[in-house]
Amino acid sequence: MRLVVLVSGTGTNLQALLDACADPAYGAEVVAVGADRDGIEGLARAELAGVPTFVCRVGDFADRGAWDRALAQAVTAHRPDLVVSAGFMKLVGPPLRSRVAMVNTHPALCPAFPGMHGAADALAYGVKVTGATLFVVDDGVDTGPIVAQVPVPVADDDTAESLHERIKVAERAMLVGSIGRMAREGWSLDGRRVRIG
Ligand code: GRF
Repeated sequence: MRLVVLVSGTGTNLQALLDACADPAYGAEVVAVGADRDGIEGLARAELAGVPTFVCRVGDFADRGAWDRALAQAVTAHRPDLVVSAGFMKLVGPPLRSRVAMVNTHPALCPAFPGMHGAADALAYGVKVTGATLFVVDDGVDTGPIVAQVPVPVADDDTAESLHERIKVAERAMLVGSIGRMAREGWSLDGRRVRIG
């Protein structure tokens, strides 16, 4: 399965995928990494792994629609079977999503705590269990059909940062496990229900 991974930051989820893909038995290959900004660790990780990169900055385009079309062009040039948004901090519009399936990972148990601050919002609400969700991207914000979820307990002394870091450990394992199964066993969508195999 050919993967294009989109990142905006440190790229630890990307690194986990790159490490998994080093084993041919994993069943997937990261064929390119895209970003919405320059100079981020995620791009450096891709370059170190010898994976082609591209950058598509919203500010370089007349409007968001033009950016969406350029992103679609840049991604599909690599002929992906699946696009993985892994810490990509932009909503992606129909030009890309109509051409290739896309999954995203979110640091909360959807449909709870959507948006930019999943870990901090869960902590502030006072939940005792949160986690991470892998879902198929749709028109909403973290609303798409759910591929996988993993629970993470909230500790009494957690800060937003400590909680997010612990979520990310579970999130990376869930991402690697789920993408590998999707690649090896295939997957399908029936309404909101995602089936692997
Ligand atoms: C992840 O927790 C992701 O769910 C969230 O941002 C974090 C990205 O981490 N949107 P990294 O860049 O993969 O280290």
